[in-house]
Amino acid sequence: MVEHPLYSPIVVDHFTHPRNLGEMENPDGMGEAQNPVCGDTMRLFIKVESDRIVDARFLTFGCGAAIASSSIATEMIKGKTIEEALLITDQIVIEALGGLPPSKVHCSILAEMAIQKAVEDYREKSRLKSPPPLPSPIEGEGI
Ligand code: FES
Repeated sequence: MVEHPLYSPIVVDHFTHPRNLGEMENPDGMGEAQNPVCGDTMRLFIKVESDRIVDARFLTFGCGAAIASSSIATEMIKGKTIEEALLITDQIVIEALGGLPPSKVHCSILAEMAIQKAVEDYREKSRLKSPPPLPSPIEGEGI
């Protein structure tokens, strides 16, 4: 395994062997997050069945810490309900990665934001797929 003076072995592993990398066809939700300072961008795709995330993929244009955060985030949300996925914060991502150097803490925020946005997108699409039922006709009002 490659060792790095700043990054934990978990970060190095996820950066050198990213899990679930690539675009997803017909995702149920897609969330994109960008850091306005460095410009790094993460795109997260989710497949959802009965409100549970059954698959997740990502595309990240950014630094090694952002790629590792994206990779581990996809692993963390798979199998979770969307409510459980929303509880994943950047701090939880950092812990799962075995820590990040202080200057790279912001990279994990991309993962948290992308999860939130992918769930938002999923909820919006679900709402459009099943619009609320039409109000029933008022009794006595014939044509
Ligand atoms: S340096 Fe900006 S996300 Fe990593």
